[in-house]
Amino acid sequence: MPQKDIIINKIYNKCCLNTMSLMNDNYIDLVITSPPYDNMRKYSGNTFDQFEKIAQELYRIIAVGGVAVWIVGDQTVKSNESGTSFRQALYFKKIGFNLFDTMIYQKKPRGAVGNNKGYWQTFEYMFILSKGTPKTINLLTDRKNKDSRSGDISKKRMFDGTLQAVKRKGYSKMGRRTNIWEYSTGKGHSSSDKEAYKHPAIFPEKLAQDHITSWSNEGDLVYDPFMGSGTVAKCCKLLNRKWVGSEICKEYCDIAQERIMGVVNGSL
Ligand SMILES: C[S@@+](CC[C@H](N)C(=O)[O-])C[C@H]1O[C@@H](n2cnc3c(N)ncnc32)[C@H](O)[C@@H]1O
Repeated sequence: MPQKDIIINKIYNKCCLNTMSLMNDNYIDLVITSPPYDNMRKYSGNTFDQFEKIAQELYRIIAVGGVAVWIVGDQTVKSNESGTSFRQALYFKKIGFNLFDTMIYQKKPRGAVGNNKGYWQTFEYMFILSKGTPKTINLLTDRKNKDSRSGDISKKRMFDGTLQAVKRKGYSKMGRRTNIWEYSTGKGHSSSDKEAYKHPAIFPEKLAQDHITSWSNEGDLVYDPFMGSGTVAKCCKLLNRKWVGSEICKEYCDIAQERIMGVVNGSL
């Protein structure tokens, strides 16, 4: 099928449904996004009420073996969590996605305490959804193994009581991460540039970079349907991935554009 009319490395100042209508089936290697959820924040004049349609379109445009990272939390009203995150994850499964992993994005506590009656809320879910089995998995191995050692020969007691020499495998110094990722957030932590903080709900650049590295290779095409301040685009540029973004609010598109130009000019 000839490619529809989509332009690479561009922010579409439109609803993501509109942008996705310009994409062929099985087109995108990786989606990383954090949609507006529940009534957590008022963005300049928009609402998010078409989750099911958007989920179906995401399934259509993602390549076989492609991955979607869907980052959400739940609002608590009158001591009752919305459960939106789980409902969305189960809907993704219903329409064909694999739920490859349920990861946690933990925000490093910063000394304040929450004002609800429960423990302080410090995390969001990162649902790792895939169309079939993920075609790219580059696990990050930056966690120190506590008991690292080289391989050796040990003795094993056999059924008849005799001892037999057996080879024991070693453990490398560094091991793969757990699926809980912790980041410092807020001014001076989430982004290396000042522009980003003009948006009220950015996620950390390091988080975006870690997902880009884990689920894609250089030259792959990454899409963020809720681009906000352009964190995913900026990180794709830094990591040599192609990208496309949608952001409904013009003001946020301008911030994203500034940040991307910062990478181009080498000032960010
Ligand atoms: C949580 S923010 C994303 C922040 C982004 N991850 C960052 O680091 O800057 C969600 C964004 O989705 C945008 N948005 C809401 N509905 C949209 C839609 N239908 N299509 C595209 N963007 C939308 C909002 O304006 C908001 O900027």
